[in-house]
Amino acid sequence: MPTQGPSAPAWRSDELANPHASEEKPSKVRRMFAAIAHAYDLNNRVHSLGQDQRWRRFAVRQAQVTPGDLVLDVACGTGDLSQAFAASPASRVIGLDFTHEMLVVAREKQRGHSGPAAAKITYIEGDAQCLPLADASVNVVSIAFGIRNVADPRLALSEFARVLRPGGRLIILEFDQPRNAVMRWFNTFYCARVMPVTATWISGDRSGAYRYLPASVGTFLSREQMTGTICASGFRDATVAPLSLGICVCYRAFRI
Ligand SMILES: C[S@@+](CC[C@H](N)C(=O)[O-])C[C@H]1O[C@@H](n2cnc3c(N)ncnc32)[C@H](O)[C@@H]1O
Repeated sequence: MPTQGPSAPAWRSDELANPHASEEKPSKVRRMFAAIAHAYDLNNRVHSLGQDQRWRRFAVRQAQVTPGDLVLDVACGTGDLSQAFAASPASRVIGLDFTHEMLVVAREKQRGHSGPAAAKITYIEGDAQCLPLADASVNVVSIAFGIRNVADPRLALSEFARVLRPGGRLIILEFDQPRNAVMRWFNTFYCARVMPVTATWISGDRSGAYRYLPASVGTFLSREQMTGTICASGFRDATVAPLSLGICVCYRAFRI
């Protein structure tokens, strides 16, 4: 069976027509990220041409962090956004992810940074759809390139609303498709034809993670659907900021 075993492809070609519809999405997503964890950061830097860290710094600025704030970085993966928040005035950062192998890399990176910022971070294993935190206990919830990978984004958004204090900030970074037709053509060509080949080669991946990536972006909620869903989940004043000509977008909203 092509979808069984750790080294087999996670997705059949027909499933990639809409990977969000698969009932096995959580296990497939976890298997993909376990397979690519060791080369995840390198692939991000190479294939975003170094822009990914700039997007994360933008996200941190959008969060308007003040001293004493507790930040929950959901789907933290290898911890790049958690680290960016740790460099802000936040007092504590919790990075949460459900793929053990991604957290192993995050913790290795944390051990490599011995300064006070790294000491602010605690990494925990958990599910975005069932957060192990008390109601109204955090000031900022962030999720970078994660909400698209969650099985039920609406359930995750309701969990984010539950754990945020009133006035708390929700920050979501996600890939999108440029609105400009020419840019959109180039981006589609790059993401569907070039990147799956080069990223798969860099990571030695067999799970199909870099074929899933463009398929999952192309079939995910539009900007308008996302802001509508955010507002229907207990947030107000949802805005969306396009980054790098709209390849990436940053949503911000405030807990009612
Ligand atoms: C593309 S990576 C993003 C990692 C990191 N946030 C970044 O900025 O690079 C997506 C992450 O989402 C995690 N993820 C997907 N669904 C999840 C869920 N339901 N709960 C927790 N983590 C989840 C995956 O394990 C993976 O590490």
